[in-house]
Formats: sequence, structure tokens, C-alpha cells
Amino acid sequence: MTDEKMPDEVKALVEKWKDKKGNLIMVLHELQNHHGYVPRETALELSKKLCVPLARIYEVLTFYSYFKLNEPGKHRISVCMGTACYLKGAGILLDELKQILNVKEGETTPDGLFHLDVVRCLGCCGLAPVLMVDEKIYGKVQKSELTEILSKYGREEAKV
Ligand code: FES
Repeated sequence: MTDEKMPDEVKALVEKWKDKKGNLIMVLHELQNHHGYVPRETALELSKKLCVPLARIYEVLTFYSYFKLNEPGKHRISVCMGTACYLKGAGILLDELKQILNVKEGETTPDGLFHLDVVRCLGCCGLAPVLMVDEKIYGKVQKSELTEILSKYGREEAKV
């Protein structure tokens, strides 16, 4: 791909960081922050422009859980599996969400509405078990409340 075809954003980021140490990770961070993931085509362009093997880029992308390789769902569900939440049954919530949404952790529902993730401690252990949808924290969550929580985010079929 020629420079002319490279999206302006990637070009600008490469230009911004090209002479700086650790530029690969800084560019990846900016792309992740802006898009919510790092598309494969972008990784390929970066590889060419920075003269870094694509395999090296994927090493970085897969090492840090912060980076996502696929487009995230509209709403991100983060189930806390930190010690306090785990002991209070977060695993049961996670299993139920997987079943309701028919996805595994790290996956997005086919309709693009939800992305399911596991996190370690959201900093409110007194409310365990805790889950977060986008920026909203739900504490002392019971399995029976999950469909109602999901329905607030547009999962119509979950209202039953
Ligand atoms: S362990 Fe879940 S909020 Fe701390």
C-alpha cells in the first residue's frame, strides 16, 4: 500500500511518534483509544510504515489485555473476578452472562450490542460481586438481576 492510500490517521500517528523511543506501543495506544480496537489493516500499515514485522506488532497487541483486536460491542460488560467478587459468586454471574449472550469472555455478541470482559478488581470490593456496564457500576449483583440490567442497554429479548 502506498503512502497516499494509507489512512491519514495512521500516517499522522507514525509521523508524530516516528523518532521517539517506544513509538510502536504509543501509536497502538492512540489507535486503541480512538477506535476501541486495533484493526488488522491498520496493524499491517503500521508494520510497513514503521518497518516493524507484523508478528512483533501482534506480540504487543496480544501481550497486553488492554488492546483489542476486534471491534468492541456497543456496550462493554466487565465482570470483576477479583478475589472479593470471586468469593461472592462472580463466577456464577459470568457463566450466566455467557449463557444469556451466547459469547465467551473477550467476545462480542453477533448483533454488536455487548462485549463481555473479565477484569481484576474495580476498586469497590465492598459491593462484591460487581460488574460494570460501560462506565456504570452494579454492586451486589444477583444472577436473577442480569436480564433486567441487560434490558437497560437495549437487549429486548432479555426482558422476559
Ligand atoms: S474484587 Fe471486585 S471490586 Fe474488588
